[in-house]
Amino acid sequence: MENNAQALAKKAAGYRAADMVRPGMIVGLGTGSTVYYAMERLRERLAQGLACEGVPTSFQTALRAREYGIPLTTLDEYPDLDVAIDGADQVDPRLRLIKGRGAAQTREKIVAEAAKSFIVIVDESKMTESLSAPVPIEVIPYAVTPVLNRLRGMGGLPEVRQGVQKDGPVITDNGNFVIDCRFKKISNPEKLEIQLTGIPGVVESGIFAHYTKKTIVIIGGKDGCRILPSPDIVP
Ligand code: A5P
Repeated sequence: MENNAQALAKKAAGYRAADMVRPGMIVGLGTGSTVYYAMERLRERLAQGLACEGVPTSFQTALRAREYGIPLTTLDEYPDLDVAIDGADQVDPRLRLIKGRGAAQTREKIVAEAAKSFIVIVDESKMTESLSAPVPIEVIPYAVTPVLNRLRGMGGLPEVRQGVQKDGPVITDNGNFVIDCRFKKISNPEKLEIQLTGIPGVVESGIFAHYTKKTIVIIGGKDGCRILPSPDIVP
């Protein structure tokens, strides 16, 4: 359960990211509680005259954006985005991530790929020396058993994610299952990311190891934000 300090830290990071949006930008909108704060600040800035449009990564984000009056568009209209703003579950010192607690990692990765820069917003609890969380993997239901076996063969401990207030597996916004796979050690996230998407039936994994060059991480805290790799990068 999130405490008040954590909520304030997420809010600080989310607001800082939304303040980086410039007039006319097309913004990828990630999913989760920290992105909610970025959208809250975008709503304020839109009311003050900012013009921008968002591409949502989930039904959750699309619904909240509509509620906030954030104009939405699509990757068909804008296959190249100016920026994407998103949360993360873990961030390592080289700015590699694990994402997908909310099962939105596939659309989040599509949007991160499309964006010129990727602003990741977190509180301090997400920072880690090495990636170690279970990796969320979206899988088409037809392939779930062979994919579970392949993951076990790679030394993983996979489990099909179960719904809350819904019997049976979680169904993603794309109509698929999610497997959470714990690995003893993720020593090479780049390699693991490629290996996972090489398994037939895997749609996408929550390892984001290939966007580090365009990634800015904003870490909210009680005394404001710290920014990696460096605050100088911020426009
Ligand atoms: C959604 O599937 C996830 O990738 C989220 O972006 C991630 O879990 C961060 O969520 P919070 O901002 O709610 O911690």
